[in-house]
Amino acid sequence: MRERVQPLTPPIVAPSILSADFSRFAEALALPDPARDWVHCDVMDNHFVPNLTFGPLIVAAARKLTPAFLDVHLMIETPERMVAPFRSAGADQITVHLEACADPAATLAAIRASGARAGLAIKPGTPLDAAEAFLGALDCLLVMTVEPGFGGQAFMADMLGKVSAAKAWREQHGAGFLIEVDGGIADATAKQARAAGAEVFVAGHSIYGAANPITALGYLRASVA
Ligand code: DX5
Ligand code: ZN
Repeated sequence: MRERVQPLTPPIVAPSILSADFSRFAEALALPDPARDWVHCDVMDNHFVPNLTFGPLIVAAARKLTPAFLDVHLMIETPERMVAPFRSAGADQITVHLEACADPAATLAAIRASGARAGLAIKPGTPLDAAEAFLGALDCLLVMTVEPGFGGQAFMADMLGKVSAAKAWREQHGAGFLIEVDGGIADATAKQARAAGAEVFVAGHSIYGAANPITALGYLRASVA
């Protein structure tokens, strides 16, 4: 396989394979450009969220099919137990939910110790304040712009206050995390999120649900450029 690549300069679009046709998985993974896009992998356990998706086995399959940066979003309880398996499967970044962590600092430290970049996600009902103690130890803050669990939901514009507050916090404290948004991202909502300070744009339905996913991805890149 080609050497793994890690584009880290925003803006970055991250197609979410949650909305891909898994009977044509290789085609879905051929869509993102490894030189500039990430591949977003939504792991759901039917406990933290009502939906159930996939685990390290599928992430390992994705790893074989693309050298792209694998952005693994864990919507699972006790995520600390799954850091090593997802890292071994090939995750480049592992994002855990603040609401799912008994000890977020220890979990983030374990992710970094594994060699992956460490991400922390907050649900719509969780204020940025709740994550503040951990922002200095983060590579990526994921602000959910829908209730996690399903693709194709409507963007919650009132989450953008958290994005701009995170950006202001980062400037004040000289921190280096990227700000990612996930849920309901399409051309217009991505533009709004970009204006608020978002840098990584996860998009499932608006890319893989489009009549022409390559064209849709191109438009989305252009809308945040
Ligand atoms: C939602 C997931 C998202 C999902 C976004 O729980 O975390 O990554 O794929 O899907 P869209 O872009 O369709 O809202
Ligand atoms: Zn996600």
